[in-house]
Amino acid sequence: MSPGKRAKAAPAHVSRGERAEVALAHVSRGERAEVALAHASRLVNHGPTVLVTSQHAGRRNVMAAAWSMPVEFTPPRIAVVIDKRTFTAELVQASGLVGIDIPCARQADMTHAVGNVSARDLPAGTDKFQRYDIECFTGPALGLPHVAGCIAWMEGRVIREPHTEQAYDTFFVEVAWAAADPRVFRGGKWQFDDANADLHTLHHLGGGVFAVPSRLVRASEATVG
Ligand SMILES: Cc1cc2nc3c(=O)[nH]c(=O)nc-3n(C[C@H](O)[C@H](O)[C@H](O)COP(=O)(O)O)c2cc1C
Repeated sequence: MSPGKRAKAAPAHVSRGERAEVALAHVSRGERAEVALAHASRLVNHGPTVLVTSQHAGRRNVMAAAWSMPVEFTPPRIAVVIDKRTFTAELVQASGLVGIDIPCARQADMTHAVGNVSARDLPAGTDKFQRYDIECFTGPALGLPHVAGCIAWMEGRVIREPHTEQAYDTFFVEVAWAAADPRVFRGGKWQFDDANADLHTLHHLGGGVFAVPSRLVRASEATVG
């Protein structure tokens, strides 16, 4: 079972079929600076909740995923759990392409919403980008939709592993392009501090509650030697 299946208790303001009153993707846009592929794994190394974007045959979608991790530096590869019952899994299976966007603290409502509503349950002809008024842009490498206002974006190709996809809902993705907002990711590293707290990553604790990495702890080199 995916983490989302444990997070089904949507708050009243995102209840299915009603007009959502959530503060969604209306956030000021930062710059998008390309990230060297050798550093792409660092974007998810600390376990942020991500937005998985997908597209196939004229349909596009976005869902939240708390379960992703890097599995290789070079070439950069990331494993992400996408429940086979999701519409996202259908699009990803069909296209072989995955977008991985990293939302920030001020996008908690939108992240929660797209993780609690399936595109399958929306009226025909609409998608979650329209439903939640999510501004998006097209990725330069694979043409996938990406959420503006996130703090990092990746797109990649699925490395076909039918067994792990079927048995564990786990897809391995080789990253083809990565970019990040330099206000929080510079020099190949996240740079979180009090001044950019709104841009910190979201770490899902369950039930729509997230933690943010507001405090950094630097290990002493002296202990190593
Ligand atoms: C914070 C959060 C984290 C989630 N993590 C995952 C995950 O790692 N894998 C997964 O398959 N679903 C996860 N979900 C659930 C999906 O986002 C959810 O099933 C979504 O409605 C699927 O949308 P779709 O059917 O339109 O693709 C998560 C939901 C939330 C709110």
